[in-house]
Amino acid sequence: MKTALTVAGSDPSGGAGIQADLKTFAAHGVYGMSVITSVTSQNTTGVFGVFDMPENVIKSQLDAVFTDIFPNSVKIGMVSSAEIIKAIAEALKKYNAKNVVLDTVMVSTSGCPLLKADAVSALTSYLFPLSDIITPNIGEAEILVGFEIKSEEDMLSAAKKIYDDYGVCVLLKGGHLDGAASDILYDGHETWFRGEKINNPNTHGTGCTLSSAIAARLALGYDIQSAVKSAKDYVTGAIDYGLNLGKGRGPLNHTWSLN
Ligand SMILES: Nc1ncnc2c1ncn2[C@@H]1O[C@H](COP(=O)(O)OP(=O)(O)OP(=O)(O)O)[C@@H](O)[C@H]1O
Ligand SMILES: [Mg+2]
Repeated sequence: MKTALTVAGSDPSGGAGIQADLKTFAAHGVYGMSVITSVTSQNTTGVFGVFDMPENVIKSQLDAVFTDIFPNSVKIGMVSSAEIIKAIAEALKKYNAKNVVLDTVMVSTSGCPLLKADAVSALTSYLFPLSDIITPNIGEAEILVGFEIKSEEDMLSAAKKIYDDYGVCVLLKGGHLDGAASDILYDGHETWFRGEKINNPNTHGTGCTLSSAIAARLALGYDIQSAVKSAKDYVTGAIDYGLNLGKGRGPLNHTWSLN
């Protein structure tokens, strides 16, 4: 059985973070493992608390996983501080981690900051060089490039700039742009993964779900292009199912594809 590891925060309401990642791995028939970077108190209505794990606790979990069950891919999500980022980067290098998908989580869907402002440069210097693909949303890409993204032309310019500046393959997600829900992959060449905006307010954890589905496909041996294509189809199906749980922006149905 292929194996995948998520290094991310915990969402007790189960829609995002490691809970979403593990469900996504399972839906793909991949054995999932998790290293918790932070325990958040959140639900579909917002984030009420963030309790970061100390670096040595994160490091110890990473050692336990990598020295026993080597993951065929690694998805990295919420990493709050420069210290946590450095600890993860060190372990990825030490164990020569493969197929690293970095979801550049900076702000929650509900607007809560999840990455300290001074940690952005640690993310780009320590984790970008170790990543096979990064998956910023519109707001995160704007922070990385320093200009506003209002159209698909802007998305292309931003994806190109991120690739040129950091030499990393980038999937810029268009879920927060008006109009379509189309994402652009740039790895020196552009590929669009086009989608219609589904009229469903329940999109808690779409980004976590997409990036862990990419990691699951990479673990199964897909190349990046086909992993992204399949992950985009998976997240679209999970939104389209129309699950409606909780009082706010509800979660997706991660197991829709098993039915
Ligand atoms: N309403 C929608 N209908 C269809 N696809 C969507 C919708 N909203 C987002 N997506 C898709 O979901 C994926 C995640 O994109 P999004 O831009 O929402 O990421 P994100 O902001 O990082 O998510 P999160 O809020 O979970 O962090 C992308 O493939 C995007 O195109
Ligand atoms: Mg996100």
